[in-house]
Amino acid sequence: MTAMEVGSAPPLTERPTWKALEEHYHKIRHLHLRQIFADDPQRGTRLTAEAAGLHLDYSKHRVTDETLELLLRLADDRGLAERIDAMFSGQKINVTEQRAVLHIALRAPVGERIVVDGADVVPAVHAVLDRMATFTDAVRGGRWKGHTGRPIRNIVNIGIGGSDLGPVMAYEALRHYSRRDMTFRFISNIDGTDFVETTRDLDPQETLFVVCSKTFTTLETLTNAHTARAWCLRALGDEEAVRRHFVAVSTNAEGVAKFGIDPANMFEFWDWVGGRYSMDSAIGLSTMLAVGPEHFRAMLAGFHAMDRHFRTTPLDRNLPVIMGLLAVWYTDFFGAETVAVLPYDQYLKRFPAYLQQLTMESNGKHVTLDGARVDYQTSPIVWGEPGTNGQHSFYQLIHQGTELIPCHFIAFCQSLNPLDGHHDLLMANVFAQTEALAFGKTAGEVESEGTPARLVPHRVFEGNRPTTTILADRLTPEILGSLVALYEHSVFTQGVIWDIDSFDQWGVELGKALAQRIGGELQGDGPPAGGHDSSTTALMRRYLQSRSGSAR
Ligand code: F6P
Repeated sequence: MTAMEVGSAPPLTERPTWKALEEHYHKIRHLHLRQIFADDPQRGTRLTAEAAGLHLDYSKHRVTDETLELLLRLADDRGLAERIDAMFSGQKINVTEQRAVLHIALRAPVGERIVVDGADVVPAVHAVLDRMATFTDAVRGGRWKGHTGRPIRNIVNIGIGGSDLGPVMAYEALRHYSRRDMTFRFISNIDGTDFVETTRDLDPQETLFVVCSKTFTTLETLTNAHTARAWCLRALGDEEAVRRHFVAVSTNAEGVAKFGIDPANMFEFWDWVGGRYSMDSAIGLSTMLAVGPEHFRAMLAGFHAMDRHFRTTPLDRNLPVIMGLLAVWYTDFFGAETVAVLPYDQYLKRFPAYLQQLTMESNGKHVTLDGARVDYQTSPIVWGEPGTNGQHSFYQLIHQGTELIPCHFIAFCQSLNPLDGHHDLLMANVFAQTEALAFGKTAGEVESEGTPARLVPHRVFEGNRPTTTILADRLTPEILGSLVALYEHSVFTQGVIWDIDSFDQWGVELGKALAQRIGGELQGDGPPAGGHDSSTTALMRRYLQSRSGSAR
């Protein structure tokens, strides 16, 4: 089914496949995981799937075989298999921007053919990867010198959104594989504190800025890049220094040249790569500088392994499809509003933040592909922190609060830092939490422990809290690639079911435009121009008074 056909078909909630799920939900909504597991002793091994080095356990979900069948029927009805093909074959599935969506081409091996507007894009992808590798080797090998002849020791990535979150997440995730004699830092916020604190102890002679911006028009990034330029020139005193201390990653060569970065120092990507899907493009230059070209290519191979799985595996064994359909099940039928992503690995501490943009900027949409207002819930809110830290903070609410919060537990069987006893205890907590969330503790069990009657209700765990567990052997560059691709394709699956454009982001525009206008007013001489509401006007006045030192 094409996007147009989906758009003109009956709305999602009126389709028989949706209605069947609604009816089924009413039948099973009180069914407890205790019962579901008791009825099927094989469930814990049966409802699992493996691909690209990842093991997915989805047995602790409030689903029966019938639920899964109905969800798969919904996927068929929405033409999911055809939509996957449409994405992989370069059709312009980003309909509001008339663009192909081809992050999968960024990790396609040499020799694969992916055609956009009549041209195979894979050779260009590899040409940029080769340039990145040559540059990376020169910097890491000390052959790329700063303006005063010193080697580069500090890499500072300047970018925001997809031009920051992916690079930071990947750097943190792969820190184990990174050069320990170099520093890698990230500046994103327009708050001057970010720049000042990040550069405080850096020597400009040894610092290289990687300015990442798909559009090269983003206010935060350009402001920070100009500040970086001034910081550099203040110390090095010569315009020529920019050539040795700044490189750019962008689709906008003109903007890069206008900023003053030599186009020879620009690494290109393309409009068919969305910002939040770009960490494996040249936007990953800081990642490559940190871990080296070989590890970077290994990460791409992991992405590609998951891409192949997503494209070729039947939907009922397809990891991203299963995860995507489960997200729809909880969001639209149980009314769950959030999903907690809980990596039990300190290296993945920025993974939830990365997934927030990937998921919510993609699927936080209120109209369908053809512009009709949806009458169902779209993207869940994604949040999370690494375990076990979260256990001593917000898990109380997940266990005993009134919100239903499906959780993703992500863990690795082998530690990269195997300190005596730590890893078994870390993993014990993963298994304990998912068991506790699913099965809880009944009043009878609490009483039988001798708990005073008045405390029994407080100590009861209802359980029936759904969890996904994703296990891999070790956190390697390959596995990071597979894991990110798993979530990318799960987000796509959800977007197909919801009939929305997962690849545009019009919702960020209004705030940007207003900030530009208000910024002009704040920087002007007079009082704020009219035209704002009374609250905004009063807040601006209060700010201006304080700024001019007259506030009490
Ligand atoms: O404002 C949102 C956004 O457009 C994101 O989609 C994007 O990742 C980010 O800003 C940064 O954009 P750019 O890479 O063009 O600077």
